[in-house]
Formats: sequence, C-alpha cells, structure tokens
Amino acid sequence: QTYEPVNEPLLDYAPGSSERKEVEEALKRYNQQVADIPIVIGDEEIRSGPELFQVSPHDHNHKVAKYRYATKEIIKKGIDSCLKARKQWERTPIEKRADIFLKAADMIAKERRMDVVATTMIGQSKNVWQAEIDAAGELIDFLRFNVAFARQMTQYQPLSPDSNITNRSVYRGLEGFWAAITPFNFTAIGGHLPAAPALMGNVSVWKPSDTAMLSNYEVFKIYREAGLPAGVINFVPADGPVFGDTVLSSPDLAGVNFTGSVKTFKYLWKQIANNIDTYKSYPRIIGECGGKNLHFVHPSADVKSVVNGTIRGAFEFNGQKCSATSRMYVPESLWPDIRDGFLNIHKEIKMGSPLEKDSFVTAVIDDKSFKRVEEYVNHAKNNPNTKIIAGGKCDNSKGYFIEPTIVETKDPKDRLMQEEIFGPVLTVYVYPDNKYVETAELANQTSPYALTAAIFVKDEGARKELVDIFRDNAGNFYINDKSTGSVVGQQPFGGTRLSGTNEKSGGPHYLMKFVSVQSVKENK
Ligand code: ALA
Repeated sequence: QTYEPVNEPLLDYAPGSSERKEVEEALKRYNQQVADIPIVIGDEEIRSGPELFQVSPHDHNHKVAKYRYATKEIIKKGIDSCLKARKQWERTPIEKRADIFLKAADMIAKERRMDVVATTMIGQSKNVWQAEIDAAGELIDFLRFNVAFARQMTQYQPLSPDSNITNRSVYRGLEGFWAAITPFNFTAIGGHLPAAPALMGNVSVWKPSDTAMLSNYEVFKIYREAGLPAGVINFVPADGPVFGDTVLSSPDLAGVNFTGSVKTFKYLWKQIANNIDTYKSYPRIIGECGGKNLHFVHPSADVKSVVNGTIRGAFEFNGQKCSATSRMYVPESLWPDIRDGFLNIHKEIKMGSPLEKDSFVTAVIDDKSFKRVEEYVNHAKNNPNTKIIAGGKCDNSKGYFIEPTIVETKDPKDRLMQEEIFGPVLTVYVYPDNKYVETAELANQTSPYALTAAIFVKDEGARKELVDIFRDNAGNFYINDKSTGSVVGQQPFGGTRLSGTNEKSGGPHYLMKFVSVQSVKENK
C-alpha cells in the first residue's frame, strides 16, 4: 500500500481565529483542575502511594497534575503486562497496527489537538506556537511518517532465484519488552518513544518525565482511545533510579529507548553491561542525549540571517531544545553588526507566561533547571574572561524565569563554550577573520557533544572547507540556517559523539531498531 504523508499544516492562532478561541477554552478547562493521573498497567489504573505534583513552570504555586510513583512491584507488574500483551500484538498485521496510530494522529489533528497543545503550554511552559509545533505538528508527523517508513521497510523481500525455493523476510517485533524513558522538553518525544516500537510490534513500559506528566498522559489516553490494546504501552510514572534498576534487571529487557542526559544514559548502559549475563537477548540501546550546538559564522556570511537565526536558535523554547544554539564563533569584521543586531532584537523580546499572547521566552522547566542555568549566568558575571552583553537576570519568585542572556568570552574553551546549559544562554567567541580555519577546527573539538551545528557562509571555497572540518561533528548539520527546527521526514534527527547513538528519528532507518528479521527459506 502506498502512503505518502505530508507534514501536518500548523495552525497560526491569530487573535480572533477559531483555534485561538478553542485553545483559550481548553486552557481554562485545564487551569481550573488538578488532573489526577494514574499509573496504567494493562487495563488497570493505579492511584496508590504518596501524592506528587506537577506545577506550572511559569507559576510554581499552580499545581496542574497529581500523580504517584510506581513502586518496584508495580513496575514489575508493568513488565508482566507487556509480556502478556506481546504475543497477540506482535502477530497483529502491521496494517492493523498502523491503523491505530494513524487514527491517533487524526485524533490529535482534529478533536484532541487543543488538549495536547493546552496541556503542553500549561505544564511545560511553551507558548501556543511552540506547543503547536511540538504536541500537534511533530507528534502527528512522527505517527504518520513512521507508518509510511514501516510499509517501505517491510516491503523488502530477498531473492528467490530457484523456483522451487521461497526465501522471505519476516519482520518481527522484538521478544521481551522495551523501556521508554522520555524527557519533558517535547511532548512529541514522549509520545514517539513508546509509539515507534509499538508500531513495529513491540511492547513498552513508558516512564514519562515528572514535568511533562499532564501532556504525556493526554497522549497515552489518545493512543488507547484510538484502539491500542491494553498492555502494549503501560504508563508508568516512577522515580528514575527505581525504574531504571527494575527494568534493567529484568531478563526480558529487549531495549531501552531513552532521551535525556549523558549521565543517565551512561548509567543505563553500564547497568546493562553489568547485567549482560542475565538477559535472554542483547538489549538494544537508543540514546538521545543533548548537545552543545554551535553557529560558526564566516566573514562572507549574511549578517541578517545570522542574527535572526541565532536569536531563534538560542532562545526559542527557552533554550531547552537539545538542538538549541549554545555557542557561537563570529569574525571580528562582522561582530559590531551582529552585536547591534542582537541588542536591537533583545530589547524587544518579551519574557512572561506562555498564556500571554506575545511571550517569546517563558520559564525554564523547574527549580533544578533554574539553579543550574543561574549558576552558568553567575559564572559569566564573575569570570574575568566573560562579560554579559544582554540579559542576565534570573528570578524564580513566581516562575522559573531566566532572561535570554548573551555572553561574550575571550576564552574559546570556557565552560560556557563546552558544557550543555539547557537554558536561554548563548556564548559568543570573536575570532580574527584570517583564523577561520583554525577557529573552526577548535570549535569542532571543543565539546564532547555533536548533535547540531550550523555554518553561515557565502564564499564557496570556505563553505567546502568548513563542511569538511565539521564532517564528523553534528548529526544534524545546517548551512546558512539555524541549528534547530528539524522536521520529521525532512531532516531525520539525532547526534553523534556523546550526543547519542544517532538512530535518526523522523527518518526511515530509525524503525530498524525495533525489528528482528527472520529469514525463512522454504522448499516447495
Ligand atoms: N528536532 C528538534 C529540533 O531540531 C529538537 O529543533
């Protein structure tokens, strides 16, 4: 069956538009209640144990959802529920499985769109366009494009040159269960990490992020309402280490689909190595772990696109995209114009609640994030090699607000040029124009991450040199565009080096991780 999806058109929420009214109604509805989110194992909703709360990052006195952590025993029940559901699900024809996820995509596109957008705004502090791009656009695209990719992949059949023999490939879901461990920063990633394996016939326990509980539970409910059988995905809020240790010590672990920090990913990997003798199969390990993404500006670059692209790359989504622009290399000759451009835009940037229509920057996700980013801002304030040229205010009295901050450094190896900050802080190093090759080589080696990178260059010879220098760097590389904004089906996404295992979500190869191919030879 051919199926050629197109990217979901995004709504623009213009004042007075029907979608603006609808989202305001949905916001009101979710703002008036504290959702009570269960652990869901198979068909059973569990609400036992001490209550925990998700709060709005822009108003931390406002509770948006109540939830509880699954204990070790409940997590084990989740694993059992996966294993019970697996046989029938794995043998369900791919077309039937695809229909469920296409239906879920249609539900998000139509009747449930405002639910996922509003819960992402309230719970993860995204403005309406950012929530639309994430929870509607990207999640719908993941679900639809994966179906097209799965159909293409499973069409391949091996040669059978002898007419008495049939050779075939059987595309099986993996034996055992997957652990999907998902981050707060994209509702789409939350929804995607358990859905992609499920499409290919796998089963998962899904541990959503504590700070994305509300939107992630909406997505889970949509999957179930679209017809996903009980137990194929189990929704298991849990303490990170308790969850990790429980799932990794199960002999039935088929794989881990993780997005989060390098530290946690290495921990998971080491635990899997420690337990390797206990597993029935070699667990597959997928990690997407952040970045220290760079903009490299050549003297021939177009200043306007550098300025606009960098402001967006660094500060949209409060710098909480793994692809966010975090360090920048600018030639001396262009710095005065780029700096002026930054300052002109910076004074117009509005920071505030995502529910106010023109907030470009909102709050970072939680107290822990706030303190981490504030510590980097303080480093910029107190270090003789660095100076803040815009922003620098941090205020957590009502919400976790960090002003978009631009730092200039004289030290290209300062920690601000090496470490992931995951907040609205951009650090700029200004280099002598004639040293662009050396500076690019240095930039390539400065950080252990290699998720995204962008070069801005018009000169053809320099373009070639820079492309070559960054060849082993970013998993996603941009020429004359910002380091963020990959689109499903257009720029499959994933990083190299410590940024991740580069499976390329949003592209066809990603799904290979979730199939175990059986080659069958049959004599007639
Ligand atoms: N896929 C997202 C982006 O590229 C993270 O911005």
